[in-house]
Amino acid sequence: MSREDVLGFLGEDWTAVQTVIADALRSDVGLLNIVNSEILAHSGKMLRPMVTLLMAGACGQIGPDSHLYAAACELLHNATLLHDDVADESDTRRGMPTMRSRLGPSRAVLLGDFWLAKAVYVVLAAKSAESVRSIFSKTLSDLAEGEMLQLEKSGTADTGVEDYLRIIHCKTASLFETAGLSGAISAGASKDYIAAAGEYSRALGTAFQIKDDILDYTGDGSLGKPVGIDLLEKKITLPLLCAMKDSPREAEIRKAVLIIDSHPENYEEIRKFVAERGGVEAAAVVLDEYVEKAVKALKTLPSSKYTDYLEEIARFNTVRTQ
Ligand code: IPE
Ligand code: IPE
Ligand code: MG
Ligand code: MG
Repeated sequence: MSREDVLGFLGEDWTAVQTVIADALRSDVGLLNIVNSEILAHSGKMLRPMVTLLMAGACGQIGPDSHLYAAACELLHNATLLHDDVADESDTRRGMPTMRSRLGPSRAVLLGDFWLAKAVYVVLAAKSAESVRSIFSKTLSDLAEGEMLQLEKSGTADTGVEDYLRIIHCKTASLFETAGLSGAISAGASKDYIAAAGEYSRALGTAFQIKDDILDYTGDGSLGKPVGIDLLEKKITLPLLCAMKDSPREAEIRKAVLIIDSHPENYEEIRKFVAERGGVEAAAVVLDEYVEKAVKALKTLPSSKYTDYLEEIARFNTVRTQ
């Protein structure tokens, strides 16, 4: 599957989503227009709106509300990236300098707020169920809680597997879940189909963040964002958690993470530990389990070109390098 195949298949529905996004972002503040156009010109993979439209198609049909929800998911996703780059003090995103590094943190946060507000505006323009509004609003609080919990845990270096799964659910899987659920609901799907859509997209989102965390250990310059930054930000993610499992060095390694700012030599030491203990390979096994869970959930839906593409998107996680 190539991205072009999916976008070609979605055709006018995809164009409609782009139009909703561009219209929503229009402003008479010059600076906003300039930076918004730049962000749109360097859009990322746009997986979330693809999931919304494909799920709507898989559950019946894509309609005007599907376009709005797909657009809202991408607007919200970009808002989280703008905020996340401030939280992570990150300099590169999609191969370009981040808005944080170009405009400073205050403007980058306000810009993120604008995208977030526009996501809400677009959701409110939809006609379908009230339930979608609560789903989006739950995701909005999940996103903030996930990032806060992550920051809290970086001050204690005591993240366990359950904490990790909660963090990645809140900061990433919740929005994927909303993408899938809103797509299904916009198609007037039955309860069973909505449940399958939720299960698929939640597992997909979890797999997606696990892969992102693996790429932080294994990625190269083509990633378009910094590699190895998680450890420097004292984020204990799945490759390190897997490496520490049953290791007598766990307490020592956690301490090394905690004091990494004043002991930069710990960085290589911890990465060596992860490599020697096969942490990345073990995390990849967990990733595959979530991919299979996502694929299994699709079996509830009638088989179609839409479900084929949804399956391919889930499997794409095992191989993607960006
Ligand atoms: C990056 O998401 C943030 C995570 C949730 C890991 P994407 O990898 O979907 O970002 P873009 O939109 O393609 O740049
Ligand atoms: C995902 O976590 C953050 C969001 C959901 C915004 P990361 O901090 O790992 O995302 P990247 O690696 O910066 O894209
Ligand atoms: Mg980040
Ligand atoms: Mg990351």
